[in-house]
Amino acid sequence: MSDRSAHWENVYLTKGEAEVSWFQNSPATSLDLIRAATPDHGAAIIDIGGGASRLVDALLQDGYRDVSVLDLSANALDAAKKRIGGAASMVDWIVADATTWQPAKTYEVWHDRAAFHFLTDPRDRAAYVERLRSAVAPGGNVIIATFAPDGPEKCSGLPVQRHDSASLAAALGPEFELVETRSETHHTPWDSTQAFQFSRFRRRGA
Ligand SMILES: C[S@@+](CC[C@H](N)C(=O)[O-])C[C@H]1O[C@@H](n2cnc3c(N)ncnc32)[C@H](O)[C@@H]1O
Repeated sequence: MSDRSAHWENVYLTKGEAEVSWFQNSPATSLDLIRAATPDHGAAIIDIGGGASRLVDALLQDGYRDVSVLDLSANALDAAKKRIGGAASMVDWIVADATTWQPAKTYEVWHDRAAFHFLTDPRDRAAYVERLRSAVAPGGNVIIATFAPDGPEKCSGLPVQRHDSASLAAALGPEFELVETRSETHHTPWDSTQAFQFSRFRRRGA
């Protein structure tokens, strides 16, 4: 197991869902941006670094039928499966590192909240974007939420690379066109605040 996996497996083994700073009862901004990306409930959607997030519950509730959740941590995905119960069988659960994963199909929506920002080494960011490019076809959408430039410098005790839409656009390359960007103040379960940005891109060429 890599150091990266060991960190996250331990987090999800030792903490409940509302004991982590990134917990959201309702992932409203993500859901809003996914709805804007595609109203087609048959569209393939993947949540990268989805952890135990409730986004998958919200997507299923909305009627989306082709939902995948990828995370380094099997413990995180087990927690989500347990919460969802029977509907968990409708979801494709993938334990993998987003920088080395080999996607087996393409997705209309790639969503990532607070996973990409852990990639502080430019080589890891390039590897992530290479996977993203093989998983998102022309016309597909990429939604990436990270700590904003005025957000915290660490998350889960690990250093992060903060972003705005311009640094994300530079990382993704000119094939991806910025559609919209939003600022959000996240309130942690202990009511401190964290500045996030959410940016949605569309792959040109469809
Ligand atoms: C801060 S949490 C956010 C979880 C979820 N997206 C949310 O908003 O609640 C970061 C998640 O990214 C996962 N992660 C970190 N690096 C990753 C990588 N290289 N590949 C896949 N998942 C990763 C962690 O296991 C963790 O679940």
